[in-house]
Amino acid sequence: MATTGVMRPGHVQVRVLDIEESIHFYKNVLGLVETGRDAAGRVYFKAWDEHDHNSVILRQADSAGMDFMGFKVRDKATLDKLDADLQAYGVKTDRIPAGDMLETGERVRFVIPSGHVMELYAEKTCVGNSQDNLNPDPWTPESEHGIAPTRFDHCLLYGPDIEKNLALFTEVLGFYLVEQVMLPDGKDQLAIFISCGHKAHDLAFVRHPEPNKLHHISFLLPTWEKVLRAADLMSMNRVSIDIGPTRHGITRGQTIYAFDPSGNRFETFAQGYETYPDYPVKTWSFEEVGTGIFYHDRVLNERFLSVVT
Ligand SMILES: [Fe+2]
Repeated sequence: MATTGVMRPGHVQVRVLDIEESIHFYKNVLGLVETGRDAAGRVYFKAWDEHDHNSVILRQADSAGMDFMGFKVRDKATLDKLDADLQAYGVKTDRIPAGDMLETGERVRFVIPSGHVMELYAEKTCVGNSQDNLNPDPWTPESEHGIAPTRFDHCLLYGPDIEKNLALFTEVLGFYLVEQVMLPDGKDQLAIFISCGHKAHDLAFVRHPEPNKLHHISFLLPTWEKVLRAADLMSMNRVSIDIGPTRHGITRGQTIYAFDPSGNRFETFAQGYETYPDYPVKTWSFEEVGTGIFYHDRVLNERFLSVVT
């Protein structure tokens, strides 16, 4: 599909309890590339195959979790239009000046009904993926360092009023619903998976009484074999694995859930399917939610619904 409007998830700022321990983990175990540190002490990373300066920003804090998630939009005119559209929809927006984040342009910040802070931005310095754009090689030394995902892919977030999130993202920001899990009543949604492009999901929400919670930040791997290699590296480095390697029914992704040193859950996954806005929405009944999340076990582990940061 033509990529206009909101293009993709672009960055996520994560709170960590010990910045030095976290830098080691994100750089050498997960295998992201450090691209800078700012005056506020934040540390910036990108995945090896991403072109923009940063996608994961770590901030030391007293509690783990997500500060905000940002989406890159096509250009400055799109940013201004979506800002106006959000305000017309009744959403209060703030402008964060260019340079607040390293190598990142002006951001439009707003809070969604589930309590999460979201941002749109149009400009971030292209630093390249360490390959030449003329006659590029298929991989680089960075692509073999640590788990080495190719990109920051999506987040799964927990909070209330997810049907209002769905309305906001579909009616204002151009997303569409790809899959959903229903509550026992068969009418309301327990979970929604939404896309702004052709990925099975760019963002997902699970209904949860407490606002503004993070379930996981997800990173893409190219193959199932790389998922197995990721699990090997997690074991070697004594990373706390939540589940996997296994498969999701929802999105068909081949996955591992694990925890960073601060207890933030992250996912390394491969595959899944591509989708388009005209495809039928896939629906999972409440009775089969275990199958949808963990296709092999067919039941949720207790942590899936309770452990968030
Ligand atoms: Fe995920």
